[in-house]
Amino acid sequence: MTDPVRFLTGITPSGTPHIGNYVGALRPAVQASRRPGTENFYFLADYHALIKVDDPARVQRSTLEIAACWLAIGLDPGQVFFYRQSDVPEIPELTWLLTCVTGKGVLNRAHAYKAQVDKNRAAGVDVDADVTAGLFMYPVLMAADILMFKAHRIPVGRDQVQHIEMARDIASSFNHVYGEHLVLPEAVVEESVALLPGTDGRKMSKSYDNVLPLFSPREELRRQIAGIVTDSRAPGEPKPVEGSALFQIYEAFASPQETQQLRQAYADGIAWGEAKQALFERIDREIAPMRERYDALVANPQEIERVLQAGARKVRERATPFMAELRHAVGLRNLASQPKGPAKAKAKAALPSFKQYREADGQHYFKLVDPSGALLLQSGGFASPQDAGRAVARLKQQGLQDGDSSVHLASGVDAAAVRSALSQLAG
Ligand code: TRP
Repeated sequence: MTDPVRFLTGITPSGTPHIGNYVGALRPAVQASRRPGTENFYFLADYHALIKVDDPARVQRSTLEIAACWLAIGLDPGQVFFYRQSDVPEIPELTWLLTCVTGKGVLNRAHAYKAQVDKNRAAGVDVDADVTAGLFMYPVLMAADILMFKAHRIPVGRDQVQHIEMARDIASSFNHVYGEHLVLPEAVVEESVALLPGTDGRKMSKSYDNVLPLFSPREELRRQIAGIVTDSRAPGEPKPVEGSALFQIYEAFASPQETQQLRQAYADGIAWGEAKQALFERIDREIAPMRERYDALVANPQEIERVLQAGARKVRERATPFMAELRHAVGLRNLASQPKGPAKAKAKAALPSFKQYREADGQHYFKLVDPSGALLLQSGGFASPQDAGRAVARLKQQGLQDGDSSVHLASGVDAAAVRSALSQLAG
């Protein structure tokens, strides 16, 4: 059986989900969680929430609401890994190990931090005004979320791509120093995801105050839909579907046939009031059963707590042993289990070794160094860490082949020295 592809999605519990989130992220994520051959991790990033929210009641409420929301829209906790970040103490523990291999300069370039610094500079105040170390460290915590579960693919919006790249770089720094323990993740940006317009026609977003909340009561949804901005075309006048927020929202819920019918109704001069009624009914048809589950869940927080606790146990079955491996790798070890005697330790230290790493050009490289760390052999770039790993394995098994163009000798080093080093690693 091949290793499943692992997808991981983090949701910061701050604020209330709206229909734009549902169409753009939540609904596709639930559909994706049912793909065969994949493992899917969904978690509530409540440690991340603390960076933005300092009201404890709001953190708690929002965690409850977002958890209820995922369950209500059909995420099956039996089929996926669904958990709360702060229930997994291995995550902050890994954060520290990663912190120690992360360049401060890398974090200086993170968009969210830089934006705040630029704002302060423009305002003529201290550059670090209102910058907590939490904001600064945000990308490292996020890297720990991802690397803890060896996730391969991270579906994100464009604004998060830089964070995934940082997680990759942090992972390869760690691997370079301590050996290949961490899996390098990749961002998946869904280009085709519809950005839904809000009630005023601009992109639906909390910051524009133009959202349709996902689970507002039915009558409130009706009222909010009635507030969608339309033009002054009278009933009977043909209406264009292009640029109609109402039409676009309808399309995100309707089947192709239903969409075609509304398109025709626009051409036939449907009254705006009628079109709004059609939209309300179409959304409500999909949302009503979810709203019912949502209300029941929010009224029953013990049930959500139980689901999250079970999820935490399930992910910690992986996190706890993996963290033990990583602690060992960095030297946080049981003192009684030291390799016995200095002779053995020395013998191990006296071997040449391969180091694998990734460069800023995105390619994967390796080098062979002697026991003192001096360079013997340098590889060219490989497209993937697996390709580089295969080349290393070949060198170990077959030694240095004449005319192998994937590697070159370090200056001042002859082939015989490399062959002798490789022979110590063979078998
Ligand atoms: N930073 C993400 C956001 O605000 C949330 C998040 C936290 C996340 N940890 C993650 C997303 C790990 C993907 C993977 O949207």
